[in-house]
Amino acid sequence: MSETSGTLPSAPSARGPWMRASRATGLLRDEQAQATIFARMSALAASTGAANLGQGFPDTDPPEPVAEAAVAAIRGGVNQYPPGRGEAVLREAIAAHQRRRYGLPWDPDTEVLVTTGATEALAATLLALLEPGDEVLTLEPFYDQYAAMIALAGGVHRTVPIAITDDGAGTLELDVDPEVLAAAVGPHTRVILLNTPHNPTGLLLGEGAQRALLAAAQRHDAVIVTDEVYEHLVFDGFAHRPIAALPGAAERTVSISSAGKTFSVTGWKIGWVTARPALLTAVLGVKQWLTFVSGAPFQGAVAAGLSLPEEELSRIATDLAGRRDLLVGGLREIGFRVSRPSAGYFALADPGPFGEHDAAALAERLPAEAGVVGIPLGAFYRPEAEPVVPVHGPDPRTLLRLAFCKDRPTIERALEGLESWARDR
Ligand SMILES: Cc1ncc(COP(=O)(O)O)c(C=O)c1O
Repeated sequence: MSETSGTLPSAPSARGPWMRASRATGLLRDEQAQATIFARMSALAASTGAANLGQGFPDTDPPEPVAEAAVAAIRGGVNQYPPGRGEAVLREAIAAHQRRRYGLPWDPDTEVLVTTGATEALAATLLALLEPGDEVLTLEPFYDQYAAMIALAGGVHRTVPIAITDDGAGTLELDVDPEVLAAAVGPHTRVILLNTPHNPTGLLLGEGAQRALLAAAQRHDAVIVTDEVYEHLVFDGFAHRPIAALPGAAERTVSISSAGKTFSVTGWKIGWVTARPALLTAVLGVKQWLTFVSGAPFQGAVAAGLSLPEEELSRIATDLAGRRDLLVGGLREIGFRVSRPSAGYFALADPGPFGEHDAAALAERLPAEAGVVGIPLGAFYRPEAEPVVPVHGPDPRTLLRLAFCKDRPTIERALEGLESWARDR
């Protein structure tokens, strides 16, 4: 055999499981992973100077005691690897917070795990629990990481749609049918992955739907994983009720939350998991090989945040609700149909009244035309999802998601841009 026969490849193929994650999120093009729409739109906002109502990060500062605690920790030498499950002070603050707010008595030593944001908690949980072919049920639209992680773990993603309807007076309403939700759980369902309060819609999953899901999970022995990163950002007298607080739910639930949204520290990436010891150590069994640990000086600072008086936590929500009203009221005056969410960071806006029915194309044009960045709602649907036949409302994929977690001047600037854009149509 000649040593020169054939041409040897100059570099190995880069094929691998990453392709499943990219495909599941519609980001596999020319055998390459494209940047997510959030990264792309934030870059567009930075390069055009447009008001960024796209990516869900606040442009307000954390509460003073939280910021000061982090600075003091860095100055005080808290800069090396923290313990594997997280600093005791934070695990204790998480357990105390869950007991105080929800009556959930987690043991800080065996039932609480600190993670690198909710993102790592979700990744570790799904990688820990899914065998290839196992099904995961989520609502649709959904936070995009779910599709990527389910695919990476070799799982099968099933969804139940959130109905988005028009009340006839310009308000978009959100609803999910508890019976349809429960009926979607079956013998192959390994995980029911809930997100309440919900991104991108702000939907709060009602107790009826939670009870129906719990019964279905018990029937089919599924694990419930809940993503509650917006748990403190609930408005208008509503309250977040974790499914783990329902009788019989804690045994089969992995609850996930994070400091980023509540305290305006999305760059700190401090999240956590609460679950019974067997489920918690399963998650730890993956988490310790992903990042091992992270964020030492921020952990005590987040503990300080979780220990703030209730009035301070509700002041954060009230302030955000004021900015929701500014954005939603302004959009309505301009002529958009718009949702008025009771929680979270985002409102949905229908540009249909201006003859715009392709939100993906509009989102690309809006920075130049109106000086505004928003995210097309289609980014939160499976690429292969059937077109939704609208019953009493718009096709959800014609809608834009606009963030109101921005400061008032940014929201006002966005509204001015949209107003003059609308006037010219
Ligand atoms: C529903 C949801 N889950 C998880 C995350 C990620 O949280 P973290 O920044 O703590 O990783 C986000 C961030 O946008 C989110 O919206």
